[in-house]
Formats: sequence, C-alpha cells, structure tokens
Amino acid sequence: NRWSGEYVHVSHTDSKVGLIELDRPKALNALCDGLMLEVAKALDEFDADKSIGAVIITGRGRAFAAGADIKEMLPLNYAQVAGGDFLAHWGRVSKNTKPVLAAVNGFAFGGGCELAMMCDIMYASDKAVFGQPEIKLGTIPGAGGTQRLTRAVGKSLSMEMCLSGEPIKADQALVAGLVSKVVPGDQLLNEAHKTAAKIAEMSQLTTAICKEAVNVAFESTLAEGVRFERRMFHATFGTEDRREGMSAFAEKRKANFKDC
Ligand code: HXC
Repeated sequence: NRWSGEYVHVSHTDSKVGLIELDRPKALNALCDGLMLEVAKALDEFDADKSIGAVIITGRGRAFAAGADIKEMLPLNYAQVAGGDFLAHWGRVSKNTKPVLAAVNGFAFGGGCELAMMCDIMYASDKAVFGQPEIKLGTIPGAGGTQRLTRAVGKSLSMEMCLSGEPIKADQALVAGLVSKVVPGDQLLNEAHKTAAKIAEMSQLTTAICKEAVNVAFESTLAEGVRFERRMFHATFGTEDRREGMSAFAEKRKANFKDC
C-alpha cells in the first residue's frame, strides 16, 4: 500500500506501523548498494510521516539478509573503499528517530546481522541464524559487528563468532541477549507487529527521548548516562503528552497522546 522498489517492499498497517521487507531472493537479500539506498529512503519517509510511530524491518524468503553483497565488494581496492568511506551510509538505520524492530526470519549474516543490530529491538524466528562470517572472506565486520555484537553478547561469544565465523542459532541468540524473543516462523511478523503497534500508541515525542536515553547507555559512563536520563526525564515535564499520560491514569481512561 506504499511502494515497491527493486529490492524492498514498503507498506504500513492501520495501526501506525511501517513495514520494510527486504526482497532480493536470488541473492538471499544480500545488501547491495541499491537495496540499502531503498531502505534509507523508506526510513526517511517513515521518520517524516506523523502517522507512523514504529517501523519493522524483515526479510522475505529464507534470509533476513546474507550480508553485504560479496560480488559487489570483490573488485574493490583499498583506495576505493577508504576514499569513498565505503558503507558509511549504512549508519542511517541506527540514526532513525522512531523505534525500529528487526524481525529476523532467517540468515542474518555479516552486514545482515549488523543491520539487525542497528535496530532497537530484535525478534527472531526459530529458524533464524546469526553470524559474522567476514573472517572467512579475509575481512572483518564493517558496519558495527565487532562493536554492537560485543556489547550485546559479551566478549567471549563475540570473539568466538567474529574470529571463527561460526554462526549461532536463534535459541542461543536468545540466551545471549542478542534478541529479546524467539517465535515460530509463521508468527514472527505478527509478534513483531503487536509490539510495534504498542510502541506506536505512545507519544512519539516520548519514545524518541526514551530511545535516545537507552542509546546513551552504550556511549557514556554510568554517571553521565544517569545524569542524561534525569535531564531527559525532567524535559518530559515540558510536554503536553506527559500531562495527558498522568491525567489519563488518574482519570482511569486511555491516554490520547498528541506528540507535543
Ligand atoms: C552476494 C550472496 C550472498 C552475499 C548469498 N548470495 N549470500 N551473494 N553476497 N553475501 C547468493 C549466492 O551467491 C547464491 O547465488 C544465492 O545467494 C544463494 O546462496 P547459496 O550459497 O547457494 O545458498 P545456501 O547454500 O543455502 O547457503 C546460504 C548461506 C551462504 C550459508 C547464507 O549463501 C553464505 O554463506 N553466504 C555468504 C554469507 C556471508 O559471508 N556474509 C558476509 C558477507 S561480507 P547464485 O547466483 O550462486 O545462485 C559482509 C561484510 C559486511 O557482510 C561489512 C559491512 C557491511
């Protein structure tokens, strides 16, 4: 109900949730430049659209995404990748203001795992597999894999995955804290949508502040993070939505947030 590009389908539900489906089946949704540009375009549109409160990224077919496109990278030399700051634009996903949920339906390898980790919440199908196999290609993760995976699962498992290239299955990803829920494949989108729709019911102003505060935990000391959080908490008292939320509780009714 929105648009389909060469590699992605972009739609939304009537419950304020935007959906981006990666669909490049012949290459297991390998993340070529064109695909990432379409993802960025969809995120820009959803971020600017007041009717959208949360976004889901998922893959169609057997893969979430089997990584950056190896055939596209094969001919490049150092001067070309360093000179053009190759893949720098991938960071768009982690800069999204609205919450983004990754619904990982199958292979999430290399850049695919990194793309999922750029999202705010990760759910997995029981068939999902996560890996950073770049070492087998003579390279290393280049879109946050060594950093976000380590923060998510700790040093030993991250080192094991990055150094051996061996993947982990959904159940281990759950135990390790990489994903917050594993469900049968046919329920994945439904579960992701339920959570995204709940988030989309909140004040968009407040979800953006909350997401920013959680993300500061990855970039600051505890004392700085706690101070930032308190200032942001104070700032919510400058919004109408904070008054509405507390009034609704006191009056035993559902809050009607206006994003202001
Ligand atoms: C380009 C890819 C691809 C990729 C799969 N394909 N992954 N093409 N880039 N990353 C293509 C295959 O070449 C093949 O095309 C088709 O998709 C189906 O894949 P198969 O290998 O035949 O399927 P299967 O045997 O089921 O194996 C699935 C797989 C395997 C285990 C996921 O495809 C695989 O190992 N893929 C590579 C995973 C990887 O190394 N990812 C990291 C990439 S580097 P044809 O034309 O032969 O049918 C990376 C760096 C990130 O991501 C740096 C920063 C972003």
